[in-house]
Amino acid sequence: MPVNLIVGAQWGDEGKAKIIDYLSKNIDFVARCQGGANAGHTVVFDNQKFILHLIPSGILYSHTICLIGNGVVFDVKKFFEETENLNSKGIDTKGRILVSPNAHLVLPYHKLQDEFEEEKSKIGTTKRGIGPTYTDKVSRKGIRVRDLLDAEIFRQKVRANAQTKAKIFKALYRNDFDEDLTSFVDEFLALGEKLKPYVADTIYFLNEKINENKNILIEGAQGALLDVDFGTYPFVTSSNPTSGGAVTGLGIPPWKIQKVTGIFKAYLTRVGNGPFPSEMETEIGEKIRQKGNEFGSTTGRPRRCGWFDAVAGKFSVMINGITDVALTKLDILDGLDKVKICVAYEFEGRKITNFDSELKILEKCKPIYEELDGWKESTESAKSFSDLPKNAQKFIERLSELVGAKVSIISISPDRKGTFEV
Ligand code: IMP
Repeated sequence: MPVNLIVGAQWGDEGKAKIIDYLSKNIDFVARCQGGANAGHTVVFDNQKFILHLIPSGILYSHTICLIGNGVVFDVKKFFEETENLNSKGIDTKGRILVSPNAHLVLPYHKLQDEFEEEKSKIGTTKRGIGPTYTDKVSRKGIRVRDLLDAEIFRQKVRANAQTKAKIFKALYRNDFDEDLTSFVDEFLALGEKLKPYVADTIYFLNEKINENKNILIEGAQGALLDVDFGTYPFVTSSNPTSGGAVTGLGIPPWKIQKVTGIFKAYLTRVGNGPFPSEMETEIGEKIRQKGNEFGSTTGRPRRCGWFDAVAGKFSVMINGITDVALTKLDILDGLDKVKICVAYEFEGRKITNFDSELKILEKCKPIYEELDGWKESTESAKSFSDLPKNAQKFIERLSELVGAKVSIISISPDRKGTFEV
């Protein structure tokens, strides 16, 4: 399977990294196409836990080459923090990561802007400067990795942007604002020097590898319901975590993607604010949160928990073109008397089965559940679908039928070993 795109099919945190890590054993190249250090991709193996924010999870296998595409917003400080951390744990990164010169840089003033804006908008962002960096990109004021490699251009562009930003910050957020927004320049230029060996034309590189029929994984970040076009706007991220984002974020033809694997968690979580029709009642939600360790790996925030929403799931399958589902964290539902799946919404007395991301509608949608018998047995030791408790099998089959895509991979523990193909 030359190009397999992995997308988060819900509100992020579906366990993408674990599945990417599992699939990477047969993969030559892993590429990130959108988002930035707002992602928190956690992988556990050999009793070691790795949390990656910017570098593709595929780096954990020594044979893979990782790419950071033009659609990613690139935080150079985080990048080196991550490479150093990986190196200290025995993972070699030298010559194994290529960064697109066209990726836009997340700069300190973007993070400050994110904090200022968040005070007013209450989106619940990760405060990693993601929105302001994409805003600068689209308004054609952004500064790219390539600019960091030329001291004169970098200084000049930062100076121009910093002047405008300082005026905006003073006028809108803090009337005593007088910070020097250019103070990071020398430090960043030194990082730019260090970055030079990593910068490469990822577009030609990846297209060549596709044409050579190499095995390639594209690692989506966040999730479909956080997509700036299809998600619960404005409670979304600022990129396209859906399939289209892979095409524009890497410069590859859509028809070269043969497989789209949508990662779904067996229940639902969301960090940040915004509507969430199948959010669980407090007690069970708390139980799932603790058992599933549902706390943000980037910000540590408790995640809101809910039942699997097949209305949103089917929508996600449709807009992403999901061909295969990887179902994660099934084990967290072990031991429950009943498990629920949201199969439709009730909106103003009517039953609806289409997902409408419009806040005014979604906020009023009440979940209509199908209740299934739970399973008392542990799924812990399962190595195949037929090892799973019968009721767990029924749950998976029903879920697959409702979203309209086959379940190909199941994960039942955070460890690398707890994953199998169906
Ligand atoms: P931003 O991406 O930091 O601007 O945050 C916008 C929204 O996306 C907030 O609700 C965040 O909690 C959410 N978000 C961003 N990245 C992730 C992620 O990797 N997992 C889950 N939610 C995320």
